[in-house]
Amino acid sequence: MKLLIDDANLSAIKRIYDLYPCDGVTTNPSILAKTGKWPYEALLAIRAFIGEEADLHAQVIGRDAETMAAEGRRIASLLGRNTYIKIPAVPQGLKAMRILSGEGLRVTATAVYTVQQAYLAGKAGADFAAPYVNRIDNLGGDGVETACRIHDLYRVNNMKTQILAASFKNTRQVLALAEYGAAAATASPEVIEGMMKNADVDAAVEAFIADFESLCGPGKNMLEG
Ligand code: E4P
Repeated sequence: MKLLIDDANLSAIKRIYDLYPCDGVTTNPSILAKTGKWPYEALLAIRAFIGEEADLHAQVIGRDAETMAAEGRRIASLLGRNTYIKIPAVPQGLKAMRILSGEGLRVTATAVYTVQQAYLAGKAGADFAAPYVNRIDNLGGDGVETACRIHDLYRVNNMKTQILAASFKNTRQVLALAEYGAAAATASPEVIEGMMKNADVDAAVEAFIADFESLCGPGKNMLEG
């Protein structure tokens, strides 16, 4: 499963990229607003840092299909070939998905809360559909189950669309999708870091260091001797 960072803050992205194996970055208008920067300023800086090969997802804002399609073309032309145009899975968005996927651009259907939205986005040519796992949970549904149903629907219908599971509140939700074979998930820096947060592991590593230093001396390591 690809793992992407759901953030536009460059220092947070750098912090995660430095240590964690990640495949790219996803953004949405709310995430971009938090940076306080102009959208293309933030997005171009992210692209420059993650490189041309990594996946970058950027969302359109327009309310009609033609505007969405025009925004999508501009996003792709400025941010490179491995950029996915995020388009909300609403009726006008379905039309925009058909237009842009027909032009060979990469499309991610976003704001996916239901299996039927994902089905229609797949038929409209989306490469990814992003079910909002935690938001579905908060509505009393089952976000992981919905994402798994969408994954199955694409496979059983031989559709090319894959899921990019999104909106995670905890690491358990992410792990469940990885175990199910989801193609991709995007999570906040905090959730990604949470996957490795474990006081028992930290204590075990500290005990190894202490035992080594009691044998070889303080500050020593396997570069010595
Ligand atoms: C990604 O595509 C979504 O925009 C994002 O994951 C939504 O996350 P949130 O529910 O934490 O806002």
